[in-house]
Amino acid sequence: MGLPEGFRWGVATAAYQVEGAVHEDGRGPSTWDVFAHTPGRVRDGHTGDVACDHYHRWPEDVALMRELGVNSYRFSIAWPRVQPSGSGAANPRGLDFYDRLVDALLAAGIDPAVTLYHWDLPQPLEDAGGWMNRDTAYRFAEFAYRAADRLADRVGMWITLNEPVVVMAYGYAFGVYAPGRTLMLDALPTAHHQLLGHGLAVTALRSRGARRVGLANHYSPAWPADPSSAADRDAALAFDGFMNRMFTDPVLSGAYPDLGALGGPGLAPYVHDLDMSVIASPIDFLGVNYYQPTRLKAPPADGPLPFDMVDVTGYPVTGMGWPIVPDAFLSLLRALRGRYSNGLPPLYITENGCSFPDEVGPDGTVDDTARIEFLDAHIAAMRTAIDDGIDIRGYYAWSLLDNFEWAEGYHPRFGLVHVDYETQKRTPKRSYGWYRDLIAASSK
Ligand code: BGC
Repeated sequence: MGLPEGFRWGVATAAYQVEGAVHEDGRGPSTWDVFAHTPGRVRDGHTGDVACDHYHRWPEDVALMRELGVNSYRFSIAWPRVQPSGSGAANPRGLDFYDRLVDALLAAGIDPAVTLYHWDLPQPLEDAGGWMNRDTAYRFAEFAYRAADRLADRVGMWITLNEPVVVMAYGYAFGVYAPGRTLMLDALPTAHHQLLGHGLAVTALRSRGARRVGLANHYSPAWPADPSSAADRDAALAFDGFMNRMFTDPVLSGAYPDLGALGGPGLAPYVHDLDMSVIASPIDFLGVNYYQPTRLKAPPADGPLPFDMVDVTGYPVTGMGWPIVPDAFLSLLRALRGRYSNGLPPLYITENGCSFPDEVGPDGTVDDTARIEFLDAHIAAMRTAIDDGIDIRGYYAWSLLDNFEWAEGYHPRFGLVHVDYETQKRTPKRSYGWYRDLIAASSK
């Protein structure tokens, strides 16, 4: 079977990972600026101060995308550019940047897909409690309104949140990402407040004419370490609730999954009247970000979580050490359809990709065969899911450019285009040419 009419082939980036220019045009500080500038937080002290300098080099990057043949570019809007203190009037110079980018993309035949929150919370909001504070949800809706007010007439697709589970887990529970808090299970309210922010933002976006609205979640199939062990199976179920269901069930079915395995009162104390119906506001699509499966075993009796993660063995791995398992991608897509059946909106694969330690060779090329194999196998898995009748309408490779990979700094390279951070020279890798040919062939 072929791809659906109008299938989107895209590439994705996020503001803090590529833009740089952190002090320009009135941008305020974000949690990631503060975190990256705190010694010991990011490998080798790297920061997003310059990143890929996309803020200035976007015309070159748009040209690279036009040449690649993608029909959509997923990028995020830096909230601290639009509202430097996290609330109040919009900073017009911040919005001007995205305005120019959107116009240039449209002129190149590329539909903008905007993510509103890819983890760069304005620092003043963090100082007031961040996502632990319910008020942040309302501030987020206000930001969404201001962004859409300026751009909704030209942006084809809006993604409210990117991977709220990562913000909750890495940012507030384990402290390895900004804002670096180590609240463990006390971080749970950040789940509810982000989802409330999502629901409120859906209404705010639609009120300004946004055409297609959804969110992008991170999914990782949960494998019991020993499938014959009931305790390991329980650990996998608990992880599945935490990782795969907590941010999807409420949006698609209006209720949290059973989080009993986490202990404590769960989310009930934070849920006000009507919150769940706000969170379940109808969306037009679900964004799926997939990288790898996770293997779980029963935790020790005094463990802080109801699961322990163990390595997935027996598969090739990426430069991050992540197992390469395209079949897990297919089973995830099938599981989503099985779980939500008629309530599942159309899916877009909003992120999928891999890092390898790519280098520019003596002949000036970057031979990233392993990335081509990764993308080929995952795209094949997606096509099998489409043949199965799962409604998937687009695929965005992560990422257009090598970029700031959060706590790992500039070490991992996820791009289809190599970036030399000394000179900012962009060198399309072999995978770029491969993706270009794939897009051209599938558009015939
Ligand atoms: C995030 C990206 C990140 C990628 C690779 C996703 O979880 O949305 O920002 O670069 O994974 O780690």
